Amino acid sequence: MRAAEILRMGGLVAFPTETVYGLGADAYNAAAVAKVFEAKGRPRFDPLIIHIAAVETLTNAADLSQLTKETKQKLYLLAEKFWPGPLSLVLPKSDKIPGIATAGLSTAAFRIPGHDAALKLIALSGGAVAAPSANPFGALSPTRAEYVRDKLGEKVDIILDGGAARVGVESTVLDITGDSVKILRPGGTPKEAIEKLIGAVEDGSAAAEGVFVSPGQSKSHYAPKTPLKVFSREEMINLLYEKGSAFLFFDGSARDEWLKAQTADTPAKEAIKVLSESGSTAEAAACFFETLHELDNCNTVNGRSLEKGLEISCIYAQFAPQEGLGAAINDRLRRAGA
Ligand code: TXA
Ligand code: MG
Repeated sequence: MRAAEILRMGGLVAFPTETVYGLGADAYNAAAVAKVFEAKGRPRFDPLIIHIAAVETLTNAADLSQLTKETKQKLYLLAEKFWPGPLSLVLPKSDKIPGIATAGLSTAAFRIPGHDAALKLIALSGGAVAAPSANPFGALSPTRAEYVRDKLGEKVDIILDGGAARVGVESTVLDITGDSVKILRPGGTPKEAIEKLIGAVEDGSAAAEGVFVSPGQSKSHYAPKTPLKVFSREEMINLLYEKGSAFLFFDGSARDEWLKAQTADTPAKEAIKVLSESGSTAEAAACFFETLHELDNCNTVNGRSLEKGLEISCIYAQFAPQEGLGAAINDRLRRAGA
């Protein structure tokens, strides 16, 4: 596999995962990891996720000797249940992982992605791939290879195309090293599923604590270029259509109620989007970034427009219910609107 060889030589490979596309470098190679920060324009204080292909690799990349017996138990319970999958676990890192990958932290976030091409790439390379999402820093996350090509094309040695990402939002980042288990970033593994397995977990995201816990929690992350405002379902269906605005509904019934209440000229169809007709949070997550990309590409800032010359200057979005993958969607919406 050529991509794995590129990683072994210290190059950059963009690859599909079940959540979003990653921009990978050999996690054991500091110079290679530095290139990731450079390509993304990512500040050095924002640590990367270390992708592995097998739990056994943890003994090489993490320092499990620092864990208490209880934490180890939690680790293996979670790994068995959710790996491969959209869950990143914060653990003490081993000396082999260079400090640049973890922004100088003594811990690193690890996960086994649920995607065959990614697993093959990792296994054939050095066994640990440091990768953030493959987008310029602060921009919308890429759920398709074309977005990576568009935004980072020349800066990457090779882009593996695995089609549309299945989950659509990034992994849940979970810190199991402290006395209480904390969700540092809500994501593709719902809080409810984690709690069912290991009991209560705390919301340790920046939104909850008002502090800078997980560096990637900076407020204006995941931002589209078009101004975006988020509303409750109730508020959303009371908004009046105006030309130049796009409406991003969570579910079909909210859109229908809203449509009924419109009095002015017929809203432009292209500017009205629904994440899930039936109101499924998983379905909504899968098309969330893609739909935002689509609307954002029609804004007045970058000059492109939808068919019929429609240009969007503002996006009004509806919060998802705060359950299942809705928590991850709402987190991204809040930050896109910040
Ligand atoms: O689904 C995903 O997680 C995707 C795919 C490519 O795996 N990756 C991703 O990476 O979203 P990135 O770099 O965009 O986000 C990594 C998140 C950030 O919020 C970062 O602060 C947090 O993980 N993180 C990484 N290492 C950490 C650590 N040692 N302690 C706390 N948070 C950490
Ligand atoms: Mg990211």
